[in-house]
Amino acid sequence: MSKTEYNVKTIEWQSDEVVMIDQRVLPLDEKYIHHKTWQEVGDSIKTMVIRGAPAIGVATAMGMALAAMQSPATTYEALKQDLDAAAQGLFITRPTAYNLGWALQEQAKIYNEPGDPDDIRRRLKERSQEILDEDIAMCVAIGEHGAPLFPKGARILTHCNAGALATAGYGTALGVIRSVFKRDPSIMVYADETRPFLQGARLTAWELQQEGIPCCLITDNMSGYFFKKGEIDAVVVGSDRIAANGDVANKIGTYTVSVLAKAHGAPFYVAAPTSTVDLSIPHGDHIPIEERDPAEVTHFREVQCAPSGIDVCNPAFDVTPHENVSAIITEAGVHLEPYSESLAAAKKGK
Ligand code: MRU
Repeated sequence: MSKTEYNVKTIEWQSDEVVMIDQRVLPLDEKYIHHKTWQEVGDSIKTMVIRGAPAIGVATAMGMALAAMQSPATTYEALKQDLDAAAQGLFITRPTAYNLGWALQEQAKIYNEPGDPDDIRRRLKERSQEILDEDIAMCVAIGEHGAPLFPKGARILTHCNAGALATAGYGTALGVIRSVFKRDPSIMVYADETRPFLQGARLTAWELQQEGIPCCLITDNMSGYFFKKGEIDAVVVGSDRIAANGDVANKIGTYTVSVLAKAHGAPFYVAAPTSTVDLSIPHGDHIPIEERDPAEVTHFREVQCAPSGIDVCNPAFDVTPHENVSAIITEAGVHLEPYSESLAAAKKGK
């Protein structure tokens, strides 16, 4: 698989196969998985071979293109039936990431119009590549808009992985950090390890190390200590879904970080493309929160680290209320309160 300016390609077409780096085994192993069917893509989304809302959106768009190629349909009606079934199957893989539903809507714009099946197949594949290219361009723009918000020598906390791996490339929160670092190499990043799936320890720390961006890995319960010592100047995180009023769903633990940031007077920034903004829901209480396998909490890989039979909760995301968010950075610019107006205008401008 080809490398990019951003070190690694998360997902790409190779001929008629969708190839993804397996994020479950990083950073110890660099392995690539080839997908020939939408069901394989759905499985990789569910099991976190690929994760991060924008990357999930790209995978979904490609999955729909694979569904069209797989289908033996010779009529428009038969093809549409197969595509509707694939869309339903992909939709239920990760309920919180809005980019997934957004990508399905983008592809539905193509196949909801009656047409020649082969033409629809070609256009679905083309659109999935466009969605990938647009995602990188949006991330670079987010980085450019966000970079001026940070003071010289900023010590920046991030949570989870909102980097090249979570997108088609460059990243949202890590895209901002990359852009800040290009202007000011004296910055440093605190990366929360992000229990239970360790996206921070395994993926963010790895991405930052690859790029030579100074990074200090901490466990999730350490950030309060560093805030109190005055050693965190700002927070930047990604998002899985942003409600119309600016409430932000992101990896579990993000809300806690936002409360700490507010208590210590540090700005809390959210970086996300407008494809993550869901104007159909007024506020964060409507965001579906994915509950994942208890084994992610009781085990690390195959190793058990909790008593057998213990009750476990494993919500994968939480919602940070817009009051705790200092600004939302999208490809359209930096949005401030009232978010309902500026996010709606940004989406409209698309
Ligand atoms: O469960 P994950 O790893 O898919 O969760 C990812 C996150 O919470 C990211 O912060 C979010 O998707 C933004 S990625 C640019």
